[in-house]
Amino acid sequence: MKYQIIHIKTIDSGYAGKLSFFEGSHDVPFEIKRIYYIHGVPNGSVRGGHAHKALKQILFCPFGRIEIILDNGTEKTSVMLDDPAKGLLIGPGLWRDMIWHQENSVLCVAASEYYDEKDYIRNYDAFLAYVKAGERHG
Ligand code: TYD
Repeated sequence: MKYQIIHIKTIDSGYAGKLSFFEGSHDVPFEIKRIYYIHGVPNGSVRGGHAHKALKQILFCPFGRIEIILDNGTEKTSVMLDDPAKGLLIGPGLWRDMIWHQENSVLCVAASEYYDEKDYIRNYDAFLAYVKAGERHG
């Protein structure tokens, strides 16, 4: 599957907490064109329900617990974002669902492209067809 869990570099300032950071092209394998974040989400909510054709993203959760379920059309895997220093790199062609396991958890995303609705696949059957077509064309 085209995903990777990374450790986000973190400076420990002792009694005054920690600072985590990453740089586009250096720590993540793309230039960052867009940052967005999802907040104010009630516990138990499910978001996502789509895949992207070209977009690369790094997801991280600076506060709370959010489960990311990735699906490549054949198998599913689950990654729990429960540590501000944990990042999840996601390549294109993966269906994702996000489940909020803690009230007010914040999901942050840095993305390789500007927002483009045409890059989304929001229908699961269309996603399966897209994956199959990709397999046929190599
Ligand atoms: P969506 O990506 O579907 O959110 P989620 O995966 O959390 O369910 O986006 C929700 C809405 O926000 C949708 O109408 C598209 C819009 N949107 C933007 O306008 N700009 C953006 O950068 C993003 C990520 C979403």
